[in-house]
Amino acid sequence: MNDRVFVRFTRGERLFHWTNFLTFVVLALTGAFLYVPWQPYAQADAGETNRFLHRLLAIVFMATPILTMLLSRGRGFLGDLREAFTWRGEDFRSLWALVTRYYWTADDRTLPPQGKFTAGQKLHIVLQNVAFLVVAVTGLVLWFGAGRFPIEVFRWSIILHGLAALVMTCFVVVHIYMTTVMPMTNQAIAAMVLGTVSEEYVRRHHPRWYAQRR
Ligand code: HEM
Repeated sequence: MNDRVFVRFTRGERLFHWTNFLTFVVLALTGAFLYVPWQPYAQADAGETNRFLHRLLAIVFMATPILTMLLSRGRGFLGDLREAFTWRGEDFRSLWALVTRYYWTADDRTLPPQGKFTAGQKLHIVLQNVAFLVVAVTGLVLWFGAGRFPIEVFRWSIILHGLAALVMTCFVVVHIYMTTVMPMTNQAIAAMVLGTVSEEYVRRHHPRWYAQRR
C-alpha cells in the first residue's frame, strides 16, 4: 500500500480554520437569537449577555485572519488566498462539470484537472471572504454607527448584515456536508485535522497540484 502523504495545511492555517469556525458558530447562534427579538435570549439580562458575546466573538472573528497573515509572514495562508481568487477558464469549466455531473454521478471524465483547490472550494473561499467583509463592515456600523451615519446607512447595514450572515451559514452547511459526509470528498476533513491527505486522494482530486508537487 502506498502511504505517502501530502501536506495540505500548516499548523497555523489549521489553527486559523478552527478558531474561525468556532467563533462563526457562536456568532451565528447569538446573531440568530438577536434576529428574533421577542424570544427570551434577546431580552433582559440574557439579551445583554447575548449582545456582549456577539461583540466579543466578532472581535476574535475579525482579528484571526489579520493575526494569521502577520504570523505566517505571507506564506501559506496568503498564497492559498491568491490561488482561490485566481480564476482561469478551466475553473469555470470545472465548476460547470462539478455541478452538472460530478456531484451527482462521481464521473470525473469531463472534469478539467484541478489545482490545490477545486472550483467548488474556490467558490466557497471567495464567497466567505466577500461575505466576511460585508458582515464585518456592516457589523461595525451597527455597533458604533448609531447617530454617526444617516439612518438609511444604518437600515441597509441591518439588511446586508443579516443577508451576508445567511449566505455564509448556507455555504458553511454545504461545506461541512462535502468535507465530512459526501463519499467522493469526505477525505478532505483529514487535511484540516491532520494537515495531510493521501497521495491517491491528491492524484484523484487535485491532479494539477499533484503534478506541481511530485
Ligand atoms: C464580523 C464581525 C461582526 C460584527 C462586528 C457584528 C456585529 C453585530 C452587531 C453590533 C449587531 C447588533 C446587535 C444588537 O442588536 O445589539 C449584530 C447583529 C447580528 N449579527 Fe453580527 N456581527 C459580526 C458577525 C456576524 C456573523 C459572522 C453572523 C452570522 C453568521 C452575524 C449575525 C448577526 C445577526 C443575525 C444579527 C441580528 C441582526 C438584526 O438584529 O437584524 N454577525 N452583529
